[in-house]
Parts: sequence; structure tokens; C-alpha cells
Amino acid sequence: MFVVLEGLDGAGTTTQLGLLSERLTSEGLDHLTTREPTGRLVGRTIRQILAGKLLRPDGSSFDAETLALLFATDRLDHLTHLIEPALAHGKWVISDRYVHSSLAYQGMEVDRHWVAKINAQARPADLVIWLDLDPEACMERVAARGGERDIFETAEKLKLFAEGYAQSFALRSDPWVKVSGEGSREAVAARIWAAVSAARPS
Ligand code: TYD
Repeated sequence: MFVVLEGLDGAGTTTQLGLLSERLTSEGLDHLTTREPTGRLVGRTIRQILAGKLLRPDGSSFDAETLALLFATDRLDHLTHLIEPALAHGKWVISDRYVHSSLAYQGMEVDRHWVAKINAQARPADLVIWLDLDPEACMERVAARGGERDIFETAEKLKLFAEGYAQSFALRSDPWVKVSGEGSREAVAARIWAAVSAARPS
């Protein structure tokens, strides 16, 4: 089963992916835990761009179209080298972000139908969990976390991308469910496990 966690920066996808992984382990389910951008060549390049550390030779920032294409490239590489082989071995795959991140984020900066098109080769997930938390709460968590912020971690952008998520699900056929990201880590993890259990083929 291929499960994806989606949500704004600060919504808790990374924490919840860890808790979901622990749960799968305790259930004896062999799985691959992964994320986008990946740690592979294109994914690492994207992270440098997001951190503001990689600019064009003339010193300008990369445009949103180029970034959308890089995310789509990283995704196909992710599928070919990590996701598909794990699924073929009968493992579960749980990913922190996938196509809906591109639809929600890049889709608010360039034509979202074009973003859907360049990601059309990316197979549907079996379940996409949209971890929903309002952008103000996400921003507070991002601020509390400290450290360096990426170029998308501003209150204004997160508000825009929240709208992007709301519009992204109609563009794909992947089954999805919205789970509230409010409350304790354990409470959210229990909601996620309930959603995964309900979607799991018997
Ligand atoms: P994030 O997942 O928060 O990773 P980290 O924990 O290293 O900060 O950061 C990835 C950022 O990339 C996040 O702001 C969402 C963005 N993103 C897109 O804009 N489009 C995409 O397709 C993906 C996968 C991520």
C-alpha cells in the first residue's frame, strides 16, 4: 500500500510519518519511509534552491515553472528508484509529500492544470492523507521550531498554499482523506491510523 502524508509546512507531516512508521513496525508491516524532495541529485538541488542557497548564474532566483519541473523530475526518479521497487517487493511505502504538494504549492504560482499535466506519469497513491491545520497555527510551529526558513515559510505563502490544497484534490484520482492536525501528536496519530486502517484492503 502506498500512503502519502500532505500538509502545509508546520502541519506535522514529518512527525506523523515517524509515528505511522512506528505503528506499521508494531503491526509487523514491512515498509519504506520516504519523502520529497528526495535526498537524490535533483531533490538535493531543490533543497538548495528552497534554502535560497542556489541561484541562477546571473544571481536571479529560479522561476516557479522551473521549480515545478524539478519537483516533477525528482518525483519520477523517486518512483523509479525507491517507491516502485519497494512496492514490487510487497512493502508498504509511506511518503512525506508527493504530487499534491506540487499542485498546492507550485499550482498557486503557475497554472495548476499544467502542474497536473507534468505530473501525470506519477502513479496515484493508494491513500493521500491531508493533514489539515490552519496556516496561522502552522506558522507558529515553524517559528517555534527555529532554524533556517525556506522560501515558502511565510504567513502569506502558507495561506495561499492552504487554498492550493483545497483545490488540488479535484485534479487527481488518488483516494484522499482530510485529517485534522489539531491536538496532541498522539491524538493526530490515532486519527491517521484510523484512516489508514479504513483504507487498507482486507
Ligand atoms: P519540507 O517537506 O518541509 O522539508 P524540510 O523538513 O526539509 O523543511 O520542505 C519541502 C518544501 O518543499 C515545503 O515547503 C513544500 C515544498 N514542496 C513543493 O513546493 N512542491 C513539491 O512538489 C514538494 C514535494 C515540496
